Amino acid sequence: MALPTAVKIVEVGPRDGLQNEKEFVPTATKIELINRLSAAGFPNIEAASFVSPKWVPQMADGAEVMAGIERRSGAIYSVLTPNLRGFEGALAARADEIVIFGAASEAFSQKNINCSIAESIERFAPVAQAAKERGVRIRGSVSCALGCPYQGEVPVASVVDVVERFAALGCDEIDIADTIGVGTAKRVHEVFEAVTKVFPRERLSGHFHDTYGQALANIYAALEEGIAIFHASVAGLGGCPYAKGATGNVATEDVLYLMNGLGIHTGIDLNQVVAAGDFISTAIGRANVSRAGKALLAKARSEAACS
Ligand code: HMG
Ligand code: MG
Repeated sequence: MALPTAVKIVEVGPRDGLQNEKEFVPTATKIELINRLSAAGFPNIEAASFVSPKWVPQMADGAEVMAGIERRSGAIYSVLTPNLRGFEGALAARADEIVIFGAASEAFSQKNINCSIAESIERFAPVAQAAKERGVRIRGSVSCALGCPYQGEVPVASVVDVVERFAALGCDEIDIADTIGVGTAKRVHEVFEAVTKVFPRERLSGHFHDTYGQALANIYAALEEGIAIFHASVAGLGGCPYAKGATGNVATEDVLYLMNGLGIHTGIDLNQVVAAGDFISTAIGRANVSRAGKALLAKARSEAACS
């Protein structure tokens, strides 16, 4: 299949990237990060979570973050909502899209949201219905689609099953998430070949963590399957609090460098993203793990020193 000519990059750094930080990141820093990302041109930013602060303390200030950001016209600001209480918060915060997050692995579902896959779908049903009634977009995220930290192998049929259940709830978009970054290109082909039979290809996304260094290869494999929505985290920030050892999402700068090289349109300014990656890494005292980001920063600094 020919590669897509344009892709949507969803920046998930403010949520997936920061949720696992041990030290509380000040609300003002989160807001500045999102504002910088908005200015760089992202069509979609995952900005916050409306989850239990006991489970994910870092995301406790979601309402303040959403109230403080400057919204770029036309951009979608998404938030995670595990239940109706989270949905009420999302609605009050004027979120453009809510994300319900389930798993293709029973063990991960229990660890992450404290219920079985079937129970999670029951819990999401009224959330999805309320979102439909209010005209809010719904995204469904399928964790552990390429492997699970507790159960190991996850059958492709389990992924297809959850995608079908999310489709029945009326999801506008569905994420195939490699929570712990164990997937390789062959598995990516197999999973997308299977899920595109039950949900439209153009509304499926790839959400790859880079724990095993496979994320860019996996994105390329997904592009070959005609997938045109990818999630990425600026400076490669992140990790899941309920998936020990999992590192951040693929770094946005690296994905943009790849897309630019392939001549695939994103509408995003790489240099501004590199600057945003430098800003947040410095602000929270964390190493910037984007290869392209670090290379472009070093190049800009050596050019500035020479001039
Ligand atoms: P629970 O303990 O089973 O449920 O948690 P509960 O109803 O007993 O609630 C526990 C406490 O949280 C109660 O407070 C509730 O009021 C409160 P208490 O009475 O003890 O004082 N609570 C809430 N507070 C604020 N907002 C809410 C909310 N709901 C309940 N919405 C629950 C069940 C789902 C709430 C919990 O397990 C939870 O919040 N989990 C979230 C986990 C999470 O955010 N994980 C990370 C995001 S997923 C991810 O990173 C994967 C992804 O990136 C894709 C991938 O890579 O795989 C998306
Ligand atoms: Mg994730």
